[in-house]
Amino acid sequence: MRGKQLMSCTRREVILTTAALLMAGTPANSDTAAAAAKEPVGQPTYPEIASGDPESPEFHGPCVMGATPGRDFLFQVPHTGLAPLVVSASGLPAGLRMNDTGLITGKIERAGVYKVRLTAVNRAGNARRTLRIVAGAHKLALTPPMGWNSWYAYSTGNTAALTRAAGDALVKKGLAAKGFMYVNLDDGWQGGRSASGEIRPTAKFGDMHKLIAHIHRLGLRFGIYSSPGPKTCAGHTGSWGHELLDARTYARWGVDFLKYDWCSYRIEVPRHPDLEQYIKPYAVMRRALDSVDRDMFFSLCQYGMSHVWTWGGKAPVFGNMWRTSGDIIDTWQAISHNGFDSERQLYPFAGPGHWNDPCMLMLGYGKFRSGFLRPTRLTPHEQQLQVTLWCMLAAPLVLSCDLERLDPFTLDLVTNTEVLAVDQDEMGIQGQCVDRQAGGIEVWARPLWDGTVAAAIFNRGPKAQRGHIASWDMLTPVLRAGAKPLLGSQPVRDLWKRKSLGEMRSFIAPVLSHGAVLLKIGTSRQTES
Ligand code: GAL
Repeated sequence: MRGKQLMSCTRREVILTTAALLMAGTPANSDTAAAAAKEPVGQPTYPEIASGDPESPEFHGPCVMGATPGRDFLFQVPHTGLAPLVVSASGLPAGLRMNDTGLITGKIERAGVYKVRLTAVNRAGNARRTLRIVAGAHKLALTPPMGWNSWYAYSTGNTAALTRAAGDALVKKGLAAKGFMYVNLDDGWQGGRSASGEIRPTAKFGDMHKLIAHIHRLGLRFGIYSSPGPKTCAGHTGSWGHELLDARTYARWGVDFLKYDWCSYRIEVPRHPDLEQYIKPYAVMRRALDSVDRDMFFSLCQYGMSHVWTWGGKAPVFGNMWRTSGDIIDTWQAISHNGFDSERQLYPFAGPGHWNDPCMLMLGYGKFRSGFLRPTRLTPHEQQLQVTLWCMLAAPLVLSCDLERLDPFTLDLVTNTEVLAVDQDEMGIQGQCVDRQAGGIEVWARPLWDGTVAAAIFNRGPKAQRGHIASWDMLTPVLRAGAKPLLGSQPVRDLWKRKSLGEMRSFIAPVLSHGAVLLKIGTSRQTES
């Protein structure tokens, strides 16, 4: 039966089982909750999160994808399910084709919005989804990008072999199947310029064409890094005076994403630049990118200066994301600062095509700027909190660790379909804090495309605390004008556990120190459009 259901964006509808209905409406007794929340001592504890995927087919990742007509298009539709599995599509725009693994390639002929009906079939069932393809100028990044970046994993020690291995691992470990599609080089790949001024990779990268072709063959996209200054932050060659040439070189290599980092550009501007001076280097590179025949996602990295969120997404820059703070690192303080404090007021500035970027996910095994490979210093609860918060913020989800060494817990953290669907929600409304409670509890909420609301309860305090949503009214401030408010009793689903909790009028639960609970509240009006 299940396989026959019409699968759409947030595929798992809130279906109340009899057991769930019996549990419904009874918020946890507060004494029991307090007892259950006793702070553990000694060994780290792990949050209880769901693991694995069903054998029947499921689609994942973005439900909307943008591109410029006439330019190369490559999108591997993320999906899971027992092999052999066949994906088919109807309604593809003229110029695109799809093979039976769900790899869509070609060049869209005409601008427009296309509704593509996808079907996946295996012996355990089938799944359907509508993928919206939006073709036009500046239509990239309609949901936040998901992928991998080399910086915290290998710093400037990255090589072509490590980058290829990262791409292979995205596929092998099932991350690509969940929507992680960018393999991005950070600083340290640049080997200087040729006599004609063309940027060259260092010997560690050899033939860029070959490396990028490998990543594309995996159905993934490739990102690169530069600076508008003469030097990058790690002292390598920047794009200063060579913007157009660099954009052309990237396009020729097949690059899909550019992170453009302010770095030494600071010596090119006065001590206190005015707004125009802040915008200029990004406008120059945007002009260069627009003049080449390739779609490249434009990521602005200048640490939030001059309120970049107010201008980064607009003409003449058309940035697709911008860092809102300094470099993150794998400590609770950094997660707290970049995630909660820097983003708190920024929800009005994010949306389809342009995202606030609180920096990368501090998960797994990497160098994390320490000079040697080691596991993240975040506790398992802090790791879960970071993923929860980043999804609530509609933030880019960029892993930056040795993907070969992902342990099962970390893998479960970043492959939970229902949690990722919050990040990738096609309405693209960034969450905001709706309540602060004693002991460091914060409640954040964001409305989702299907009429439900995602709500997270975070505990920023040093001790376990009960957090609550006293009534669904608390979530009303995040609803769009005219949206139906959540009233009375509503279905509640725990997204980390992928479990329906029944109908409730309010919610209360213990949250461990630096931990998080993520809920989806309301009835999904899932209609296949
Ligand atoms: C920083 C940037 C980091 C990383 C580094 C490379 O400015 O914020 O994310 O790219 O440069 O040198």
